[in-house]
Amino acid sequence: MNIQKLGVVGAGQMGNGITQVAAASGLQVIMVDVSQAALDKGMATIAGSCDRLIKKEKMTEAAKATLLGNIKTATETAALSDCDMVVEAATENVDLKLKIFADLDTKVKPGAILCTNTSSISITKIAAATKRPDKVAGMHFMNPVPLMALVEGIRGLQTSADTFKTVEMLAQKMGKTFIEGRDMPGFIVNRILMPMINEAFYALYEGIAEAKGIDEAMKLGTNQPMGPLTLADFIGLDTCLAIMNVLHDGLGDTKYRPCPLLVKYVEAGWLGRKTGRGVYTY
Ligand SMILES: NC(=O)c1ccc[n+]([C@@H]2O[C@H](COP(=O)([O-])OP(=O)(O)OC[C@H]3O[C@@H](n4cnc5c(N)ncnc54)[C@H](O)[C@@H]3O)[C@@H](O)[C@H]2O)c1
Repeated sequence: MNIQKLGVVGAGQMGNGITQVAAASGLQVIMVDVSQAALDKGMATIAGSCDRLIKKEKMTEAAKATLLGNIKTATETAALSDCDMVVEAATENVDLKLKIFADLDTKVKPGAILCTNTSSISITKIAAATKRPDKVAGMHFMNPVPLMALVEGIRGLQTSADTFKTVEMLAQKMGKTFIEGRDMPGFIVNRILMPMINEAFYALYEGIAEAKGIDEAMKLGTNQPMGPLTLADFIGLDTCLAIMNVLHDGLGDTKYRPCPLLVKYVEAGWLGRKTGRGVYTY
């Protein structure tokens, strides 16, 4: 199947990143969010990202104009009716995603593929919310989407071979490396990354070191480009907590218990860079 028109649901940090990379690869993209403010912020983020690429001489002004011309925005999923594929990148919440997929199933033309960028929720469960479960798959981009090379591909129990091949080909067209993981909580990257971030919160909670010390030690001691608490602020602490809850519920092992300090920060609305305050203040 040749994908020419892509819908993206959610204009947050992942949704606008996916929109940017898809538009850069020549697709017509419609980005939908329930919030007009999120759409405006998402478009401003895309324009800012292009400006940085122009400054580094990796993009021309003409390419930026073409890219922005490939994007439309809307607040209603009805705008996605003639898309060939939709990638959902709304808030990490299972009930919300089930509702969105049931809705997309009635709005988007039959035959179109519906993907989710979920970090941890069962693709099989999301697919079952639709009447086209063979056309549902996981397409898990990394943050920030324009810079990160990986897309994890996840087959639900019902995903057809044709659907999965189309998703793989689209990821490659967008310049990404596609790696398949099983439909188990957290897939590959978050199964390993999130327990590390959660443990960094426990280290902070138990006073093993201050936040800066934990991050600096992990950078210098394990050769990571940024510390786990800095990374958590980039990802969003609400997203980190949601993923830990899915690992905890889905795998049933107490080793995945979310750190109480992470829970408190989310309760306080300290969600990381996107709210100006997380582990650090921005
Ligand atoms: N943040 C990361 O590092 C990262 C990485 C990979 C995958 N993900 C996944 O991507 C998804 C989005 O994460 P994010 O970091 O972009 O979150 P975010 O909070 O930045 O953005 C979420 C957006 O979804 C919108 N939204 C909520 N309900 C909606 C609905 N019914 N219809 C349309 N839009 C709706 C919100 O208005 C918001 O703009 C989550 O599933 C998350 O697990 C996140």
